[in-house]
This record gives sequence, C-alpha cells and structure tokens, in this order.
Amino acid sequence: MIDLETVRAETPGCDNILHFNNAGCALSPHPVIDSVISHLQLEQRIGGYEAASQAEKEVANFYTQLAQLLNCESSEIAFMESATRAWQSALLSLDLKAGDEIITAGNEYVGNYLSLLALARHRGIRLQTLALGADGLIKAEELENQLSTKTRAIVVTHIASQRGDIQDIKAIAEIARSEGICLLVDACQSVGQLPLDLQEIKCDFLCGTGRKYLRGPRGTGFLFARNQSTASFTPPVLDLQSASWDAAESFTVKQSASRFESFERNLAGQIGLGRAAEYANALGMTHIAARIQSLAENLVTGLQSLQGVQVHELNEPRSGIVTFSKTGTAAAALQSHLHQQGINTSTSKKNNARLDLDRETQGDVIRASLHYYNTSSEIERFIQVIDRF
Ligand SMILES: Cc1ncc(COP(=O)(O)O)c(C=O)c1O
Repeated sequence: MIDLETVRAETPGCDNILHFNNAGCALSPHPVIDSVISHLQLEQRIGGYEAASQAEKEVANFYTQLAQLLNCESSEIAFMESATRAWQSALLSLDLKAGDEIITAGNEYVGNYLSLLALARHRGIRLQTLALGADGLIKAEELENQLSTKTRAIVVTHIASQRGDIQDIKAIAEIARSEGICLLVDACQSVGQLPLDLQEIKCDFLCGTGRKYLRGPRGTGFLFARNQSTASFTPPVLDLQSASWDAAESFTVKQSASRFESFERNLAGQIGLGRAAEYANALGMTHIAARIQSLAENLVTGLQSLQGVQVHELNEPRSGIVTFSKTGTAAAALQSHLHQQGINTSTSKKNNARLDLDRETQGDVIRASLHYYNTSSEIERFIQVIDRF
C-alpha cells in the first residue's frame, strides 16, 4: 500500500495545484529534487569534473535502480538526454538501407513518426503502418500479415501520448522474437506507471523519459539495449563515452549499452533520475499501478456520469491517461478554464495523432493524466468543474 500522506508531503506541488498532467510532466518528489540540487551545489563548490568523480556512487545508482525497475542488467541501460534521442539512436544503429521495411502502428508517438517519415523520404525505407483495430489496439495477426523478408524492425508505443489504451507489447515481442526481427518499444508513458519486466517482454530496445510517470527531472531519459540481441548494433555517432580510440586509425565500440551514451551529459539529472527510479522501486510498481488504475476508473465513472461528456479510451485495465471531449466545448477553452481553477491538464491535438483512431473526426481532446499521489477528492472537484463549464 502507498502511504498517501507521506508521498503527498514529499510532493510540495500537491499543496498548490491539482496536477492531472502527469503524462506531460509529473511532480518530482523532494528526494529527487534534493539529489539534483546537491550535485549542482557540489559542482559549484569543487568543479564539475571533480564533482563527477566524487559522485560515482550516485551515478552508479542510476544503472542499478533502472535495472531493478525493468528487471534487466545494469549493463543494458544507457542514460540519454530524452526518450526521443534514445529511440533515434537505437533505430539508426540498425544501419538501415533503402528497401528495408519498418513496421509501426497508428498510435505511434508523433516525434517518432516524423523520424520514420523522414527515413522513408530521404533513405528509401519502406514504412508499413498498422491501422489500429476498432478498439484502438494493435492487432497481432495484422502484424504477422505485414512481416516480410525485408522487415528490419518493428517499432511500437506501449501507451500513446494521445490515448491511454495499453498495447499488448508482450504479444508483439513474442512475434518479433520468433521472426528474429528487432523490436523497439517506446515506453515513455508506461515506465513508472506499470510494472515492466524485460525478462517477460522480450523486446530488443526500450526507451523511456525521466519527467513523466517516473517523476524524474526534465532533460533525462534512458535506453535499454538487450545484451543478447543488440550487441552488434553500433550507434550512429560515437564519442569518447561510447568507444575507445585504440590507435591512430582504430577504435573499439563499448559492449555495454553505454555505447549509446554521450560523454557530456546532465550528471545532476542522471543522478536525479536514478533517485526517481529508486523512489518508484521503494513504493513498488505493483502498488503504483494498482492505485493509478483505481483512480483512473473513478475518474472515468465520474466523467461518464456527466451529460455530453465522452471518454475516448476503449479498454480495460485503464492506464492513468484519460482523454475526453465535452459536446459544444473546445478542448483548448476547457483546458484554459481548468488552468484558471488551479487544475493542470493538457490537450491531445489531432495534428499530433493523425493516424490514431477517430482523432481526425474527434478533433483535439482533453487529456487528464493521473498519478498515485492524486486523490479521490481531487477527482470529485475536477468532475464538478467540468460539469459547471
Ligand atoms: C509516447 C511518447 N514517446 C516519446 C515521447 C518523447 O519523450 P522525450 O520528450 O523524452 O523525447 C513522449 C513525450 O510526450 C511520449 O508521450
């Protein structure tokens, strides 16, 4: 069980605002922010490189905690400046050639999809995008039908930014594994809200960001690169962190996932993200997921009781992301009204979800995203404000 009083006391933002924008950026708890500030202060006192040497334990904690969170080896974790960079580095390490195929799906994150479109336009990569089923989910049999001898990678988003339905990445990973095709999972919206066991989900790469459900600092992310299956993949660019310069004309790329890292990085952020993963591990991902799910069910029940309100997620179990529309109300106007009432939400814009189910016809919708530190009384207040608008 999560001790709500403690986690809220450690989250000062809870006193000021009703924060239902956790899928955008969650509120960081004290231990995370304290670890970031104390490293910055150490840098200020003794110098950046010297602080890095002194903080070896805190940096190592990042790898240990992420590995514990994902049930993988710490050598399979790389610190990245964002999930997008992690995703791009992983995909480009496949050394794709014109004519190679990539399979993705209609819920893919806009930033990833733009990169895929650019690969198709500039490098002759063939992009196959699976339409989502009427329930908003990727269909395993559709995926199987699309596979060909040219398929080099399957790239899927676990929970989309614009819609809270949870995709069955375990089933997708089984297909990819049995066909020997590289699977890259975007877990930005699921890491920190659902347990992710990478011994069960047999993907090759998985990326995530720090600032969302993990409650880490902004400007942080990570990449998981499975030792067993990705060792031969070299990142598109190297530096002194990712490789060693052995002789004037030769170099060796690192074996571990740190071959995807950069030498220069936000060390305070990396320490903070390690602390955030430690915080999640201490609470327990099963408890976190259960609480988020039950809050999301309350929210959906409340919204569905209002006239003219339509919730867009179609599946259970629910994630913490709930999107909805209110007849005759523009999403932006409702979001701004909520903001004036001290309630943070965001909108899922149709321009960022052009292939997602019905989004073109629904237009922009409101996205309320809950975390375990939210409460039932916050949900009640939220419902009242929506009702009165
Ligand atoms: C599903 C998904 N993937 C990727 C990203 C991008 O993450 P980052 O900003 O760390 O690159 C987001 C951010 O909203 C997201 O929701």
